[in-house]
Amino acid sequence: MARLRASYVCQNCGAISQRWQGKCDACGEWNTIIEEAAALGVGGAALRKGASGRPFPLEDLSGASPPQPRIVTGISELDRVAGGGFVPGSATLIGGEPGIGKSTLLIQACAALAGRGGRVVYVSGEESTEQVRLRATRLGLAQAAVQLAAQTLVEDIVATLGSGDAPKFVIVDSIQTMWSDAIESAPGTVSQVRGAAQALIRFAKSSGAAVILVGHVTKDGQIAGPRVVEHMVDAVLSFEGEGAHAFRVLRATKNRFGPTDEIGVFEMTGAGLAEVANPSALFLAGRDGAAPGAAVFAGVEGARPVLVEIQALVAPSTLGTPRRAVVGWDSSRLAMVLAVLEAHAGLRLGQHDVYLNVAGGLRIAEPAADLAAAAALVSSLIGVSLPHDAVYFGEIALSGAVRAVGHSGLRLKEAAKLGFSRAIAPASRKDAEAARLTTLPVASVAGLVAEIAAAGVAAKTARTG
Ligand code: TYD
Ligand code: MG
Repeated sequence: MARLRASYVCQNCGAISQRWQGKCDACGEWNTIIEEAAALGVGGAALRKGASGRPFPLEDLSGASPPQPRIVTGISELDRVAGGGFVPGSATLIGGEPGIGKSTLLIQACAALAGRGGRVVYVSGEESTEQVRLRATRLGLAQAAVQLAAQTLVEDIVATLGSGDAPKFVIVDSIQTMWSDAIESAPGTVSQVRGAAQALIRFAKSSGAAVILVGHVTKDGQIAGPRVVEHMVDAVLSFEGEGAHAFRVLRATKNRFGPTDEIGVFEMTGAGLAEVANPSALFLAGRDGAAPGAAVFAGVEGARPVLVEIQALVAPSTLGTPRRAVVGWDSSRLAMVLAVLEAHAGLRLGQHDVYLNVAGGLRIAEPAADLAAAAALVSSLIGVSLPHDAVYFGEIALSGAVRAVGHSGLRLKEAAKLGFSRAIAPASRKDAEAARLTTLPVASVAGLVAEIAAAGVAAKTARTG
């Protein structure tokens, strides 16, 4: 019989303390500690009695292991982010803000997979089966052989899944609504979420089903409460997007069975999420090349090139401390690029408000975007638009030098495919020739500024004759 003892668990980070306190020592959050009854099971009581274990044989690292079969849903953007399909017996957490489209994506995946055979189960803890069915009907998927349930007690769910044919694909939407009988705390607490996730992950391993857990994410991007679940699952995928845009990006942040830098791009339409096979064309749609302050960045997400427009607005400030606002890029990266432009290219930005935006709602994490951001900023500041047929990429060092970045061949090829003819980037001549593109290497930010200013002078002389 497990002995029960109270412990105090932080609902934000899962840290356990011996007494109640207002502030969690581990994560610094206030009012997140809640008393929970902890069951001292195998690990606690047995270990303290000094029970002796049984030795087990160890294996060689060099053993042969057969290639992992994959469960391919047929939604290729999803399959790619999962690492080429889901691995049987694995657990995946899909996180995202409420309303971003997690349930929509997963019901679509279920329907697509059910069409290929195998038992597919969708367990909703948030919506009734009618609501799920209604959504499926709206998506035109009502005929799919997906089994539905609206349940929240994990013991019942595991028992149901365990009876009949072994399921192939199981969705649990969401993990925050699940609770276990074996745990004393209230549903939604860290202990419950952890316990429920543990039971479902154990089921995945023993049955060979791919289990997908949905997790809600707070505004600051953390998977609310059950951060602990992230450590337990095999893969964590996050579903992102700007509310106002129809684009959704699925990104792997952890994957034991595949790369973590792949993205899947979707567009939310009236008929659910549509796959976007060519994101560059979508992100560049509606581009106004004539206006100053816009530069096209040739980026790479995972193994796929993505072209996206970076927009900047630099305007004289009326405030004592000028504003710096950035959407879709790292604000400290912007601060660095501004500092380098001031120090090494002689630009005066101290009295200017600076706004930077990545069009289409994409989030860029690559340092390769430095040069495109710098070009957009300079272009806006001096009021000279950048050439319409040019792409930019390159990393800017604190010394003002422009450094080469990886995958330049891939970037150039994508740019050529989309009709660009020039790249302002540190790329090798071989790559440029292969892509049939002219490259104008710039060695430093000063060189970049000189080039943009010269283009402005040339345009002015052409206009005035
Ligand atoms: P949903 O999948 O319920 O989000 P989550 O499970 O992440 O909370 O998606 C909800 C939003 O998606 C909702 O605001 C409406 C929108 N939507 C569409 O635009 N088209 C559709 O076909 C569907 C099903 C939803
Ligand atoms: Mg939902």
